[in-house]
Amino acid sequence: MPTASANIGVVGLAVMGSNLARNLASREGNTVAVLNRSRAKTDELVALHPEAGFVPTFSYEEFAASLQKPRTAIIMVKAGLGTDAVIDELVRVFEPGDIIVDGGNAYFPDTIRREQAVRETGINFVGAGISGGEEGALLGPSIMPGGSDESWVTLGPILTSIAAVAEGEPCVTHVGHGGAGHFVKMVHNGIEYADMQLIAEAYDLIRRGTGKTPAEIAEVFAEWNTGELESYLIEITAEVLRQIDAETGKPLVDVIVDQAGAKGTGAWTVQTALALGVPVSGIAEATFARSLSSHPEQRAVAAHLPGPEGEFAVDDADAFIEDVRLALYASKIVAYSQGFDEIRAGAVEYGWTIDLGAVSKIWRAGCIIRAQFLNRIAEAYAGEPDLPALLTAPYFAEALARGQAAWRRVVVAAAQAGIPAPAFSSSLSYYDGIRAERLPAALVQGQRDFFGAHTYRRIDKDGTFHTLWSGDRTEIPAVDTH
Ligand code: 6PG
Repeated sequence: MPTASANIGVVGLAVMGSNLARNLASREGNTVAVLNRSRAKTDELVALHPEAGFVPTFSYEEFAASLQKPRTAIIMVKAGLGTDAVIDELVRVFEPGDIIVDGGNAYFPDTIRREQAVRETGINFVGAGISGGEEGALLGPSIMPGGSDESWVTLGPILTSIAAVAEGEPCVTHVGHGGAGHFVKMVHNGIEYADMQLIAEAYDLIRRGTGKTPAEIAEVFAEWNTGELESYLIEITAEVLRQIDAETGKPLVDVIVDQAGAKGTGAWTVQTALALGVPVSGIAEATFARSLSSHPEQRAVAAHLPGPEGEFAVDDADAFIEDVRLALYASKIVAYSQGFDEIRAGAVEYGWTIDLGAVSKIWRAGCIIRAQFLNRIAEAYAGEPDLPALLTAPYFAEALARGQAAWRRVVVAAAQAGIPAPAFSSSLSYYDGIRAERLPAALVQGQRDFFGAHTYRRIDKDGTFHTLWSGDRTEIPAVDTH
């Protein structure tokens, strides 16, 4: 058996796991034990990176023996049944006070269940969202851990040592207890879906409205990346649009099949929001847009359905592009506002204390949605921690006021040209809905009361009312059902 020389261990050495292990090993004070289901991966990692000083182990017993107490292990396996199997093995060889961290994209109810089950053994279980893809895992991800305060004492310094840094602050915080970390990571991914879809709609509108090539549009995005839209996703969009396919010489984006994949985190965000009653319409439309794209059989038969006559061509390309930029920024504000609403509602539902300002700060670097914009969100929550809706914060209200006319022009242009812009238009509808003095929800309440006696409230007195709708009365009494 090895001596207990490692302060942290990683189980699962696929790309994310091995990169995270290398990141850990590269930081002062860390010695990393590694374990993988197949021996070959461990041997390969250790041979390729002698500088890391890994402690290779080949059984759970060896792995546990190589770790100092409290033992701390990060599981980096594909979310699902594999995670449960690894947890069972670790619980078998660990002792009370030790810490098991799941760094995968687990569904937060699974994390809640696992945390409760593992806690019975006296071992700590922490679900930690880790964002930033392969490069982030290696160089510095944004990390969203949940779990107990006790585990954070040991885990905090280790995770801080590997996290990305934004303006001198590490992109990791103890997000909240239980499944809070994976909940926040789930919403991060939902926002990621909305951000990506909005960018895709902006590209499509510019391409079809101005006739610019992907390479020319790449320059537009590169320019946008120097202003208020500066973000990782805008930056990589320019790179993707610039790429030429080596085989055909065409823009790569024209060679890629237009059916977007999804591993499920966007759908979880929407399902959870539906259950919580939080309208994350931008995220939902982004998720549905991927689904729509991925039904080629329906798209093939629907392709003959009529659209508007004539070609779509804007008169002033520069003015249109600026409108699209403003529409993108306004829609992005809505998507983030909705995402933060969902985190707040989740915290209430599950009894977590989540500091929304702290969440926005740890998303400023390392993660996929990292953006200049997150600084503005952090400022908004610093100014008003209980801000009821992010989009009402002064900075965002001003940006929406500045962009709303352009936003409307873009949505109108898209509708008239027959170009789908579900995320742009649903975000605008949300904006108009939330700022409306009066909504037709009153009529919906009337309908509900008519067919199901579901009752309604009145604007002029307290209580719950039901109207006797039947009969030929001209004056219908409202009966207080209390
Ligand atoms: C991240 C990413 C990461 C992964 C997504 C992709 O934060 O690093 O979100 O978790 O790339 O799960 O999700 P889809 O395959 O569903 O697009």
